[in-house]
Amino acid sequence: MTINQSDATGFNSGETTSGRGQLTFAVPKGRILDEALPVMGRAGVVPEDGFHDKANRSLSFDTTREDMRLIRVRAFDVATFVAHGAAQVGIVGSDVVEEFDYADLYAPVDLDFGHCRLSVARLASDPEESSNVSHLRVATKYPSLTARHFERQGIQAECVKLNGAMELAPSLGLARQIVDLVSTGATLKQNGLVETQRIIDISARLIVNRAALKTDPRVAAIVATFRADAELRAQGKAA
Ligand code: PRP
Repeated sequence: MTINQSDATGFNSGETTSGRGQLTFAVPKGRILDEALPVMGRAGVVPEDGFHDKANRSLSFDTTREDMRLIRVRAFDVATFVAHGAAQVGIVGSDVVEEFDYADLYAPVDLDFGHCRLSVARLASDPEESSNVSHLRVATKYPSLTARHFERQGIQAECVKLNGAMELAPSLGLARQIVDLVSTGATLKQNGLVETQRIIDISARLIVNRAALKTDPRVAAIVATFRADAELRAQGKAA
């Protein structure tokens, strides 16, 4: 049973019968979720049936644990909710963790799914940039990782921030290059692009708010459970 209590700020702490506030577990919309759900299930994080109903417009869901709710938000927002302590735990790609580099966000477990890479791509018909270029324009959802990547090559990257469909940018003249996630490579291919540099390999991570990890033993217990499951899966793969 959940006892809803509002504190002085009007924040609904949702205190449970166990006496502690409700934990919030943030998960991203999109592909990673399908792989995350079985792993979450083994760790005892099982959403109510409504979570799977595509017509359901709720963003917050009960779980089989009375002291935990699930929120489903965009991947970048998973990191923001957890970094600010509005959610204590979450699952997100390491691309998001590295893009933000939030001090209050800790990513203790590599979940070994959601594998893809962050890469630079250009139109297949576009000739290679000359090697002494010092400035270029890149369309991306990842301005920080992109700038850092090109800085290492002594190039100043002017990032044009897009939230999706980066692959359109070169053919429409927005930027000659893009930096985006590549999994199968089908999206690049179907839009006439080729991968030219691989920036980082990516996998899904369990993330926690550092303060919550220190103060709430349930958060440490969740980390231990996910870590044990990841280790078991790694052993299974190795065997
Ligand atoms: C991602 C990414 C690419 C695509 C790559 O987009 O931004 O567009 O997947 O996958 P592929 O190499 O297997 O073709 P996603 O479909 O997750 O949607 P998004 O544009 O909303 O991020």
